[in-house]
Amino acid sequence: MKTIDIIHDEHRALASVLQALRYIVGEIRNGKMQPDFRLLAAMVDYITQVPEKVHHPKEDDFLFPKLRSRSAEAAALIDTLEQQHSDGYRMTTALLQALIHYQSVGAPGFAAFEDLVREYLDFNWNHLNLEESQLLPMARHALSEDDWRELDAAFCANFNPYTGAAGEFAELFRKIVNLTPAPYGLGSAV
Ligand SMILES: [Fe+2]
Ligand SMILES: [Fe+2]
Repeated sequence: MKTIDIIHDEHRALASVLQALRYIVGEIRNGKMQPDFRLLAAMVDYITQVPEKVHHPKEDDFLFPKLRSRSAEAAALIDTLEQQHSDGYRMTTALLQALIHYQSVGAPGFAAFEDLVREYLDFNWNHLNLEESQLLPMARHALSEDDWRELDAAFCANFNPYTGAAGEFAELFRKIVNLTPAPYGLGSAV
């Protein structure tokens, strides 16, 4: 099932950026790192754009409607997940505003940015966990081989997370990895 592999891969990539963001914000809080706004902006851009443009459309337009049509039991969970997609986008927009403010005013802007980062991290772990632990098992159980074939074809025809939008998101991911200090990235350790 390519559908499930693609969803897992995208969750892993997103989770690795979120983990690195948690580490960096912690290091700034502890005075061990100066903010690198180029890196923070790339991270916030990634966690805003990739779910919105690459990942959620696959779930919202293909997987969720297919599962809804096959399982009445999945309806409440899908309602929650769809709501979380729009809440998540609102939260990343607020995060971007807080980052701009932090960059404009310096240290006094850090606390508000950090609060939103932590709120978003908790929110998003919960979302990824709901999909991994409840949605995907329900889908495996309820969908037929034909359903998976249809989903696999739609996922492969419409999206490629690594080259999507002329490779801009793959490039953005590489940039984040290169700018993030070890042990989370390949940048020089602090
Ligand atoms: Fe989702
Ligand atoms: Fe997802």
